[in-house]
Amino acid sequence: MREITVLDKTFKLFKSEDEIRASIKVIAETINTDYQGKTPLFIGVLNGCFLFAADLIREISLDCEISFVKVASYKGMKSTGEVNQLIGLDRSLEGRDIIILEDIVDTGNTIENIVDLLEKAGCKSIRIATFLLKPEAYKKSINIDYVSMEIPNKFVVGYGLDYDGFGRNIKELFVLKD
Ligand code: IMP
Repeated sequence: MREITVLDKTFKLFKSEDEIRASIKVIAETINTDYQGKTPLFIGVLNGCFLFAADLIREISLDCEISFVKVASYKGMKSTGEVNQLIGLDRSLEGRDIIILEDIVDTGNTIENIVDLLEKAGCKSIRIATFLLKPEAYKKSINIDYVSMEIPNKFVVGYGLDYDGFGRNIKELFVLKD
């Protein structure tokens, strides 16, 4: 079994390039069917989604657009809670069919915040496509519409996902060694 080291941790091979590509093709075909006659706007959530977005979009045969956002969290000057903001939205979402592209849905906190923010923008519909979902960790009620792979509640790296900023360039998906 192939192993790699990223910073101070050892990871073992979990999903090959072929397995990743095949799983993405499956959801792309479903999206192509579900959105026939529509012109969806894909919104990729950076940084982690960049490889997933690149591979998924090339399997989409619909007329479509793609744009990318970053989620910024900051502590309000007076409030104690965190407020999330989407940076980089460069077009109107009014009346659009939105498909959010995420690298991974873990507890679901991030995706819930993103959906809350997008719902205020007057979209016609919002669906979520994620490369990975950790069902054991997912705590929210929002439906995750398109999932390439469900994985156990373990830390993974590669294919866009990082460990402390590193490992995003790895072609395959690796899982933390026990
Ligand atoms: P959530 O808000 O708990 O759903 O977490 C989502 C974010 O946590 C993702 O966008 C990732 O940045 C990060 N994350 C969660 N699990 C992993 C993992 O196994 N590897 C790398 N990043 C992860």
